[in-house]
Amino acid sequence: MSYQSIQQLLKTAPTGTEVTVKGWVRTKRESKNAVFIALNDGSTINTIQAVAEAGQLPEETLKLITTGACLAVTGQLVESQGAGQAVEVKIANVTIYGTADPDKYPLQPKRHSLEFLREIAHLRPRTNTFSAILRIRHALAFAVHKYFNDNGFYYLNTPIITASDAEGAGEMFRVTTLDATKPPLTEDGKVDYSQDFFGRETNLTVSGQLEGELGAMALGKIYTFGPTFRAENSNTTRHLAEFWMIEPEMAFYELEDNMNLAEDFVKTVIRYALQHCADDLTFLDSRLKDEEKTKKKEEQSELGLLEKLQFVISNEFVRLTYTEAIDILVNSKPAKKGQFQYEVSWGVDLQSEHERYLVEKHFKKPVILTNYPREIKAFYMKQDPDGKTVRAMDVLFPGIGEIIGGSQREDDLDKLTARMQEVGIEPEALWWYLDTRRFGSAPHAGFGLGFERLVLFVTGMGNIRDVIPFPRAPKTAEF
Ligand code: 4AD
Ligand code: MG
Repeated sequence: MSYQSIQQLLKTAPTGTEVTVKGWVRTKRESKNAVFIALNDGSTINTIQAVAEAGQLPEETLKLITTGACLAVTGQLVESQGAGQAVEVKIANVTIYGTADPDKYPLQPKRHSLEFLREIAHLRPRTNTFSAILRIRHALAFAVHKYFNDNGFYYLNTPIITASDAEGAGEMFRVTTLDATKPPLTEDGKVDYSQDFFGRETNLTVSGQLEGELGAMALGKIYTFGPTFRAENSNTTRHLAEFWMIEPEMAFYELEDNMNLAEDFVKTVIRYALQHCADDLTFLDSRLKDEEKTKKKEEQSELGLLEKLQFVISNEFVRLTYTEAIDILVNSKPAKKGQFQYEVSWGVDLQSEHERYLVEKHFKKPVILTNYPREIKAFYMKQDPDGKTVRAMDVLFPGIGEIIGGSQREDDLDKLTARMQEVGIEPEALWWYLDTRRFGSAPHAGFGLGFERLVLFVTGMGNIRDVIPFPRAPKTAEF
């Protein structure tokens, strides 16, 4: 008798063998002749049913078997008498590891709202929805590493504590060991960071890209996959203060190579999830269908979750320039009827309503937008000869908006330095970054995929706080 997870057991154990199942009680049901206990151990969405004859278990034991309690059950694996499962365990012995007082345990066998589950993030992985999301999240992370490994990329760990602002947007969390109530001051009354732990002002990274570029200029093709932090006060369903980003960076890639990689990469990892998370995705697919039924007809989405994923991997993404997109938006019905909250014209940063119009209404496909105005993009992007635009690319997804942001990088030392000065970044502060342009500079490109936005898309969830185990957002850091 050896211990196996429910996932292994349902896949491999032959009926007639003695098995031990360890897990948490989802439900207990008593009939005249028997007690049925549904156990789940998190290894799969499926529960296993354990059955005892009426009167077999002592009353005191039976009383303690309630939703949320943790048990080990030993018995013979037999063909199930009832509908709903192929096999079940005929209980010979039960050990109770931990009870869960039904008057206090917050997860009862009924549908809880996602808002309520966010308040009990420490327990929500025990629900079907969240365990499915977490298993899919794992599969996608594995697929990311597999994709890059299969394609000759090296995994580079870039620092989490940095002294630079890679995106130049000033949305950083400070890292300091100075006494917050009485920090040392310089003669002119400013905080004296030379006395801080690193001898300078430091922050949590907003992106591993700058160091990623150093890696690409040595190893050719690298990728990072790590936590990133943004202190932007956006309380939206698409933003987290702490999120995971995947950033490949490739020497000798230009904008088009970058787009080809981005498209192939997202399609491949989505395909991996479809192939390896069928049970969980089927569960989320029907969960979403139930949710859609509560909406008005015109707000219901045309495709189910599985159909949508299939659609994305089997269609080419539409590619067009920012300028072409602005043209479409300016001439669109919502623009003419004044239905956009933010006006569009050449030069503005696209709002999520504009991105979603392009993807969901106009093209009905994922879109890659390129060649944005230089003023609205980061300093490191390669400038186009027209002097107005840069070789940027954003990949826009239905229901999500921007899922990937990237670009070809400015590899010309003089142009890059001039641009930094224009936007107020001290070239000396990034002397090490500029050294790649001084010594053996080369065309190169890369992008960043927000991992949670990918998980959001693949699981069909509506709020990014529900696809990371313990979300960090404004005023949210309980667990
Ligand atoms: O477009 P962003 O800001 O690009 C960069 O950081 C570049 N350095 C990437 C690169 O070229 N190596 O961010 C990249 C992606 C976005 O497209 C989005 O998916 C995600 O990161 N992202 C966020 N996800 C969750 N919460 C936030 N606050 C996010 N900010 C960006
Ligand atoms: Mg971006």
